[in-house]
Order: sequence, then structure tokens, then C-alpha cells
Amino acid sequence: MSDKNRVVIFDTTLRDGEQCPGASMTFEEKLQVAELLDTMGVDIIEAGFPIASNGDFESVAEIARRTKNAVIAGLSRAAPGDIDRCAEAVRHARRPRIHTFISTSPVHMKYKLQKDPETVLEMIGASVARARGHVDNVEWSAEDATRTEMDFLCRAVEIAIKAGATTINLPDTVGYATPGEYEAMFRTVIERVPNSDQAVFSTHCHNDLGMAVANSLAGLAGGARQIECTVNGIGERAGNAALEEIIMAINVRNDVLRYDTGIDATMLMRASKLVSAVTSFPVQYNKAIVGRNAFAHESGIHQDGMLKNTTTYEIMTPESVGVNKTSLVMGKHSGRAAFRDKLKALGYELGENALNDAFTRFKDLADRKKLVYDEDIEALVDQEIAAAHD
Ligand code: KIV
Ligand code: ZN
Repeated sequence: MSDKNRVVIFDTTLRDGEQCPGASMTFEEKLQVAELLDTMGVDIIEAGFPIASNGDFESVAEIARRTKNAVIAGLSRAAPGDIDRCAEAVRHARRPRIHTFISTSPVHMKYKLQKDPETVLEMIGASVARARGHVDNVEWSAEDATRTEMDFLCRAVEIAIKAGATTINLPDTVGYATPGEYEAMFRTVIERVPNSDQAVFSTHCHNDLGMAVANSLAGLAGGARQIECTVNGIGERAGNAALEEIIMAINVRNDVLRYDTGIDATMLMRASKLVSAVTSFPVQYNKAIVGRNAFAHESGIHQDGMLKNTTTYEIMTPESVGVNKTSLVMGKHSGRAAFRDKLKALGYELGENALNDAFTRFKDLADRKKLVYDEDIEALVDQEIAAAHD
């Protein structure tokens, strides 16, 4: 895979992820998460928002000191005090980045910033230049880019690059864009901004309409080469693009998504479990890649297919994402083939008649209980064997 198809993975679990209600992590937990992200090959870890609190500052600084490989980024608004504080926090990193942002959409400039567009453009130039005074690696984000007027967005991006931004992030802050629109936005900005070749373009998608991952991949089609995402998709409101879904979409559909990342996908489940444990945010059962049911099959037809060949109903192996094995869940939809297989795994070999009787009793039990556990099946078969000896 050529370098031009290498996608930089920027993880913001510790910043945008932690920002959502109820997901806060302790200092120690943040260090644990950062270490795992670094080991699994994340290129950039956004460790926090140093001006937000002393706790945030300390954790960004400590992650910067300890991290071996990844670039460590801190977030700052377009204010001198924010940028200087951020620089102080990331300065111990082997590879520090300052990520500074300001809103560019009419609705944000009018109501949130209460500033006119020309003032915002001046602030972009000044904030990026100030950040470049501290570090060589500066990312600038146009908050609410997808609701920004195109001519203004192009002017803002040109100014940011001229002032020294090396990465330009165009977020779908409110999860409003469709994939086609998001792709077109990148294509147009990259084509129209004269100095666009001097920066890497980045996606940052929120999931309000459930399109964050699709939009991130669409951004790549439009020319972006960095994706911002979080483990388990945690983040403001409906969350951010989920790291594990992006990685596996790229890996599994490499025939059409011809990109490459540096992530060790076999660590995805570990990362998901750690983030879920430290935030106390449960992972929904049917969550793609890391949900409890992502590699579980209950229906008889599916279980029969899986026993014949796993590619019938699985497009990736559980091992490829760090899950031990596929589970054939025993329930009322399970068929005879899966039941026989389960008995074999539990150490029982029944003759055809006993198997039929046991299967009938298993179906009766499954009708009463939602899930049938191994112990239930063992009890049922032991009764069957005892009855045969009477
Ligand atoms: O969603 C967003 O726009 C952000 C920016 C601060 C990058 O999180
Ligand atoms: Zn965000």
C-alpha cells in the first residue's frame, strides 16, 4: 500500500469521548487507556483539554511524558491563554501537537462566539501562528465545518495553512452531514484552497444521525487522510465515529477501501473492554465489532451454516479483533445440528433416539427461558441418560 493511502488514526477518547456526560475517567485510568492506545498503534492520542481543569492539565502532561510512540495532542480554543497552557502540557511529549479550533458556521459565529466573520478569520491566523511558536505540529479545526458557507470555509482554511497549520480538520460537529455531502466538502476545499497540499486533511464526525463512520470513510474518498474517532464511539450526545468500526471496515473491505492504518486490530476488544470498564459505559449487545452479540449466532439456520463453514455468516474472524471464538448461543431458534455440536463439546455422545428426546426437551426449555446455559443442557441430558437406565 503506498504512503498516499496511509490513514492517520487520531484517537480522541480521552478528550471528546471523556467530554460526554458520565464518561469521566480518573488520572490513573487515563494513563491506562493512553498506554493501550499507544501499544495498539494509534498515531495520535488527543489526551485532553489542558485549560479545562488542573486535572486535565496534569493527565495530558503525564501522558506526554510517558507515551513512547504516538503524537500527543492537547486541545485549545483560539485564545492565547488556552494555547500557552496546552503547549505547557504537551511539551514533554516526544512528538507534541497543539490542536486549536474555532467555529466557522454562521449560527456558531453569531450566537456562540458573537463575533463577526472577519474577526474570526483574524483569530484563526493569530491562534495558529501562536501555536506554531510553541510546536511544529499544529492542527486547526473549523468547528461546525459542515454548516459553514463554502467560500468562507476555504478562506479560513487558507489562512490557517498560511499561519502554519499542518493538519486541517473539518468536523461534522453536530452529526448533520450525509456521506455524499461530507465527501464533496473535502473535495471542494482541497481543490479550491491554493495551499491545501501543505496540510493533511482530517475527518471528525459525530453520530447524531448514525452516520459518523460512513461519513468518516466518505471523507477519505474526498481526500482526507486522518480520521478522528473514539473507542466504542463514546462522545458528546450520540458519540463520535467508533475507532473499531473504522479499522475493521478498512481491513475487511480493503478490496474497495484501499487504505492502510497502523492499528493492531487484535487489540480492539481489549481496548473496548478497558474503556467500557473505566467509564462505566456499557457496550450495547449488538454493537458492531465489539458487542457481545457481534460473533454470536442463535438461529438454527445460521448455526447450521456456521458449523459447515464459518464464512457463511461471519465476514471477519473473531480472532481478528481479539475475541476468543464465535459463540453458538443455545436458544429457542437453535437447530438440531448446533444442539448435537454443543453436546459433543460438553462430552456427550447420544444415540439418535436419545438425541431426539433430549432435543425435544431442550426446545421446551428454550421456550420457557430466553437463553439456555451449558448447565441447563447438562442437567437435561443427565436426566435423559438416567431415564434410559431405569
Ligand atoms: O466536534 C467538534 O467540532 C470538536 C472540535 C473541537 C474538534 O470536537
Ligand atoms: Zn467533537
